[in-house]
Amino acid sequence: MLDKNGFAFICQFLEQQAGIAIEADQDQFVACRLLPVAQKHGFDSLESMIVQLQNRRERHLIQDVIESLITHETSFFRDAHYFDELTERILPRLIARRTSERRLSIWCAACSTGQEAYSVAMILRERFAQQLNDWHIELLATDLSEISLQQAQTGRFTEVEVRRGLSVPRLTQHFRQDGDGWQIDDRLKRMVRFEQLNLTNVWPPFSSMDLILLRNVLVYMSPATRQKILTRMQRVLHSDGCLILGSSESSSIPDARFATVRPSSK
Ligand SMILES: C[S@@+](CC[C@H](N)C(=O)[O-])C[C@H]1O[C@@H](n2cnc3c(N)ncnc32)[C@H](O)[C@@H]1O
Repeated sequence: MLDKNGFAFICQFLEQQAGIAIEADQDQFVACRLLPVAQKHGFDSLESMIVQLQNRRERHLIQDVIESLITHETSFFRDAHYFDELTERILPRLIARRTSERRLSIWCAACSTGQEAYSVAMILRERFAQQLNDWHIELLATDLSEISLQQAQTGRFTEVEVRRGLSVPRLTQHFRQDGDGWQIDDRLKRMVRFEQLNLTNVWPPFSSMDLILLRNVLVYMSPATRQKILTRMQRVLHSDGCLILGSSESSSIPDARFATVRPSSK
């Protein structure tokens, strides 16, 4: 289905475009993901699509190929112990440090369809609304994927999506049923600013971030790309801020501000 050269090209392409590393034995998986893209764009084979891809002229084709190979898996309050730690320790500590500035900047750096950023927004509203009443709160959520960001921005989720991670009280407090789906409360929606950002490209200037969630994305990248992104994160992160990685991720760069939250650390 996908010959050796075609597979090698796709691996190199995805690494260049998104920093994502494909394992050597994933050729079947790659072919399965690419076939619908080839069909959608009217190619009669993967080989002919790859020839076209090599010209790098068709933006929509490039985008669809990248989207098809990226994992967008996410859910509300994914790895609940992270959100317990955020609620009980990380956010109270950061808020205490910023009482004179009354500003807090939070960045979800690979937010997928928005559940992670909205989970943070829910915590801020449920637990810290009074304390942060007249504060300037920046909650930025970025991702490479235009399709994921489009869904995130609507604030609309399916029944299956809300059943993954949201308790019934939270669902009724923060969402309203809308046809066969659920619509997030407007005030929560307005708290999050979604923007497209490829972490491997040049970043726009950022305000210094107090809290960065960089979860479940570096795991798909090569060690060199991880190191590059974490080095840039060090510059963006406030000197006493906190960056949290996913549960299966760790930093090769020693930095006391970087944390992986373990269930036992509660
Ligand atoms: C597995 S999801 C993780 C989502 C969320 N952080 C979580 O933990 O539930 C990985 C996300 O990283 C995004 N991504 C992959 N490569 C990226 C890159 N180079 N720059 C920005 N986002 C990227 C994907 O589009 C996807 O939405």
